[in-house]
Formats: sequence, structure tokens, C-alpha cells
Amino acid sequence: MPKRGSWRTRFGFYLLAIGSACGLGNLWRFPYVVGENGGGAFILLYVFLALAIGAPLVISELILGKTTRKSVIVATQGLSARAGTSFKWVGRFSVMLTIVVLSYYAVISGWVLHFLSQFFVELFRDGEMNSRTAPLVFLMNNGWLQLLLASAHLLITIVVVAKGVQEGIEKWISYMMPLFAGLVILLVVRSLSLPSTLEVLRFLFYPDFSKLTYSSLIHAVGHVLFTLSVGFGTLVTFGSYMRDEDHTPTAGFRVAVVDTLISLIAVVMLFPVAFQASNVPLTDPALLFEVLPKYLVSLPGGNFFGLLFFLCLYMAALNASIGLLEVVVSNLTDVYKKISRARATWFAGAVSLLLTVVPALSSSVFGTFRFRDRSLIESLDSILINWILPLVALGLSVAYVRGTSDLEKEQSFIDRERFVSVRMYPNWLFSLRYLTPIVIIAGLLLQIYGVFFRP
Ligand code: PHE
Repeated sequence: MPKRGSWRTRFGFYLLAIGSACGLGNLWRFPYVVGENGGGAFILLYVFLALAIGAPLVISELILGKTTRKSVIVATQGLSARAGTSFKWVGRFSVMLTIVVLSYYAVISGWVLHFLSQFFVELFRDGEMNSRTAPLVFLMNNGWLQLLLASAHLLITIVVVAKGVQEGIEKWISYMMPLFAGLVILLVVRSLSLPSTLEVLRFLFYPDFSKLTYSSLIHAVGHVLFTLSVGFGTLVTFGSYMRDEDHTPTAGFRVAVVDTLISLIAVVMLFPVAFQASNVPLTDPALLFEVLPKYLVSLPGGNFFGLLFFLCLYMAALNASIGLLEVVVSNLTDVYKKISRARATWFAGAVSLLLTVVPALSSSVFGTFRFRDRSLIESLDSILINWILPLVALGLSVAYVRGTSDLEKEQSFIDRERFVSVRMYPNWLFSLRYLTPIVIIAGLLLQIYGVFFRP
């Protein structure tokens, strides 16, 4: 049986957990979801939910992994046995969701690869990207290129995961991420000096609640879950690698806070540029790719800067993809004890490769598909993140609450040396028992009303 890895250092755990949380969700998805939901009021709702239900869910998934030392399918089997109810479907569903999400995440990672290569080529051509019709249009019209790039991305992911947890990437992410942070901060400073800044800050931070729609609550919940990697079993797997002496609530809370801050920085970075390019709708899922490259090439030394930026963004996307594939592999090796890690990785990767055909060809071969004025990839994103993910996360949370005793919950949360954990314990329980189910169910019902019944 393959040996379960364990983080050599606490810093290593943070790198991977934060690395898996911070990805395209923060930089690509969050900005257009904010655009779709009208800005300030949505951001306020999002930050509240990230702390009130996101962080508690991160913590409970990490605890589940750390206490069982298993991945989500086996861990929920244990919970089912204890609760006397079958929660097995939740674990299985979450792993299936993970494979599907990986295949469409690969398509967006492929877009990043495309821009990375464009900036690279641009280094030798200087200035042409500005005048040529945007590389995005080229990409959108060329489904096979999208498929090729998504497949290349999946292959890289597979190779890294097949090599194993520790040796994999831990080392080199640690070099890239501070560089990424530096680039983003530079960009924030630059874009905040654009004339649109005041208007942008008002849009982002002045809450106008009339802009929220019936779907906004579940959009906020869905994005919180997606960006914190809750509901995929990722955190259960990561928790199973934690060391005994690590305090899970502190780790979970920090991951949630850092991830939320990064999302906020992403919108502050992107929106001034997006407002400047007034022809691009803020609700466009390609918003990041639409406005940022054009802005970057207009800056002095922009090609080189763009190359570095997209390289870092790619690393973040790769890191998150590794987290996704890692979960599937750890579940397979937990359930089928005879299968080797490398085999499980190639198997899960191959399934993902097959599935990726659909989202990759969304704007070309399946271009005529429209559902409520959304393209195939947008509809897929919406079904997965705004409908299925909240249900799975709710299922996991209920399974945890019902399948563990109060004493166990208390013991895994409270660390007597940290007084704050004693004070936070009742809030955590309250969130898991009441707030999370109420918010998710209310969000889903409002969405059903808004989508199907509103005149
Ligand atoms: N949280 C990642 C992001 O924001 C996506 C992800 C989800 C990664 C689930 C791993 C597991 O991009």
C-alpha cells in the first residue's frame, strides 16, 4: 500500500493549502462574478460568507482528514457508519465533481498557457500584440488549439502528481509565489493610478444592495466554496497529510483569510483596467484575458512583465490543478488498495483528458449551444459551482456534524494552549449546525425562484 505522505514542515503545508486555494478562482473567476452581481454589495456578502461559512467548512474538512488519515470517500464511509445514515454518496460525488472541475479548469489553464506563449513570442517581435486582433479572439475561434493546450496542461499535471506529494512541486512554488505577489502589487499600484480609480473603488466598495439578484446569494456561496477548495475533498486529503501537532483551526482560518485577501486584491488590480477599456462587459468570463494583456503591452517593459505575470498565473493554475488531481488519486489509492499511485494518477488523468473535450470545444464545435444566453462552458461552470458544489459541501458538512460526537469535535478543535480556540469553538459549531445549512438552502431556493419562476 502506498505510504501516506506527511508535511515535513508547517510552512510546507501552508504553501500547498494556500497554493491550492489561490488559483484561477481568485484572478480569473472572482472578477467577472463580481461584475455579474453588481460590485460592492456582492463583495460584502462574499467576504462575510468566506469568514462565516467558508472558514468553518475548511476547518471541518481538514479535521476530517487529519483525524481519519483518509481521503474523503473512506472518511465519509466512516461517518456514515457512525451516524447510521448513508453519506457515502457525498464522498463519491465530491470526487466525481473534482474530476469534472479539473477538466474545465484545464481549459482555462490552457488559456493562460496561450497568453504565456504569446508574451514569449512578443519578446522577439515587440509591440505587435497591441495591434493584432486580440489573441483571445484567435483562441476562441480555435477550439482544437484550446483542446491541445488543455491536454498539455493536464499532461504536465499528471506527470507532477505521479511523482508524489513531497518531491513534486513544494520546492518551486515557494520560489514563484513571492514573485507573483510582487508583480500583483506593482500592477495594483499602476492600475490605481488610472483615471478610473475613484469610480472603480465606488463600484467595488460602496454596497448598493439593489444590484443583487435572486441568484447572488448562491453565487457568493458557490464562489466561496470553489475558491477555498471546499466540497472537493481536497482539504480532507490535505488534512490527512497534516502532522499531529499542527492546529487545524488556525491553519484553516489563515488559509481562508489569505485567499479572501488575494481575491480582493485581484479585483482592485483588474477593475481600473477593465473600466478604462469601456468596451468590455464586466460580466464576461474572459474579462481577465480580455483586458489585462492589452494593458500590459501598453506599459514600458510590458512584454517582459506580461511574460512573468502569466508564468506566475500559470504556476498558480498548475498548483490548483495538482490539488484537484491529487484528491482523486488519494481517493483511488485509499479505496483500491492494490492500485499504485502512478497508475491511479494516469487513470484519473485520462478520464479528465476525455472529459475536457466538451469545455474545450465550447466556443467552436459546440458554439451554437446556448442555455439562457450562456455558452456551454459558462453553463457548465454555473451548474457545477452554483448548484452541485453547494449541495456536496452541505452534504459533507452534515455528514461531519452527524457522524462525530460533540466530544470529538471539541477535542479536534480546541487547543488548551490557545485561548482563542476555546472562544471560537461555539461559533464554529453554530456555523456548521445552523448558518451553513440555512444559507445554502436559502441560496438554492432563491436561485430556483429567480431562474424558473420569476415572471
Ligand atoms: N481553489 C482553486 C481556485 O481558486 C480551485 C480549486 C478547487 C483547486 C478545488 C483545488 C480544489 O482556483
